[in-house]
Amino acid sequence: MGIETQSVDVALFDMVMSLSRALDLLHPAIGEHHLRVAYLCASIAEHAGFRSNEIQEIIIAGALHDIVAVCKPHSHSLLDRVLSRYDDDMADGECIHEHAEEGYHVLREFPPFAQAAAIIRFHHVDWNFGKGEFQGRLPIPLASHILRLADRLAVLPTDDCLILCQKDHIRQSIQAGTGSLFCPELVKIFEDISDKESFWLDLVSKHKEKILSHRFFGETSIRLRMDNLYGLAKVYARIIDYRSAYTASHSSRVASASELLADRLDLPASTVRLVGIAGYLHDIGKLAVPVALLDKPGKLTAEEMLLIRQHPYYTHQILSPVPGLETIGMWAAFHHERLDGAGYPFRPRQIPLEARIVAVADVFTAITEDRPYRKGMSKKDSLGILNKMVRDGALDGDIVSLLPAIYEDIHHAQELALA
Ligand SMILES: [Fe+2]
Ligand SMILES: [Fe+2]
Ligand SMILES: [Fe+2]
Repeated sequence: MGIETQSVDVALFDMVMSLSRALDLLHPAIGEHHLRVAYLCASIAEHAGFRSNEIQEIIIAGALHDIVAVCKPHSHSLLDRVLSRYDDDMADGECIHEHAEEGYHVLREFPPFAQAAAIIRFHHVDWNFGKGEFQGRLPIPLASHILRLADRLAVLPTDDCLILCQKDHIRQSIQAGTGSLFCPELVKIFEDISDKESFWLDLVSKHKEKILSHRFFGETSIRLRMDNLYGLAKVYARIIDYRSAYTASHSSRVASASELLADRLDLPASTVRLVGIAGYLHDIGKLAVPVALLDKPGKLTAEEMLLIRQHPYYTHQILSPVPGLETIGMWAAFHHERLDGAGYPFRPRQIPLEARIVAVADVFTAITEDRPYRKGMSKKDSLGILNKMVRDGALDGDIVSLLPAIYEDIHHAQELALA
């Protein structure tokens, strides 16, 4: 069996939820928005008679639907409004559909997300008394209207009183949008299922992820193959890099450099791929760091520096709960550790070779890539810095010593990966 079709025993559901959780960290107003929407979508779709694979697709759509809005810093004012109000009408000149269209384009590149992407594309289209069945001549999936309803429904509960005290009011608000905003058949389904207290208690439960996983994925959870996990890591990298104009291709470059180094160290082909995945994901914890800090021109204050330095900790927090990703999560999260123990944030006694590779690839990439405010360093200068870091006890000398011979190859591989 080729390594690409090898099963890596990571479940798609867990991978999606790890990203969904990371998205919910991004903005104070988000709370549990993605997770709640995923739960509501699944409950409505189940009662609308969707098949189990269709329910899985709509859960993925719900869990990732605002992915672009939360990752693009300038859309945060849009999110503030859309997440705090039931009514999602926009001010002049703003387009509520833009983030949905862009989300569709980002996610559909990963084939297992194609259907979820198509659902996300129309998640703000009104039912408009049946006109919302089409956009031009394009039929809009019913699942998009489920997502539309779930998305508006999810913003209604408030934290200041028991959910069961809010039930009637929320049901009335949704009822008021029947026909204009929401498909009447779906509102009817919502009314039927929301009669039960357990529907509401599940919605605010801390265990929604488990509820979703047991009820809708269970034994059938799609196991990823190596090429799928790799493709998914690439999508994640695009989302991580989306946030900062300064590091628009950093994660992808670190992945390419990590893979080439692992290959030259004669690691097995499957390990080379897994090290590449760790490279793609190493900065996923930056999703928990405010973008204003990531892009701050000029010097950071001591406190800001401490905040940024938390990101590998979050990388670990996001990846390690995914069964099957524990080791890759560790390689990724150790990329700021130093051999002399003076790195951060875990200061492990031993750093696995794969994590040392990602650490070298990260420094190499960071100092050689162009940023809007500076040019990348030359070969001579960058190798000078990397060798000094070896002498200082930070990086692994055996790995850094490979760089002079493959310097151009790494740049070539980095450009190829972006093409
Ligand atoms: Fe949205
Ligand atoms: Fe980092
Ligand atoms: Fe990095």
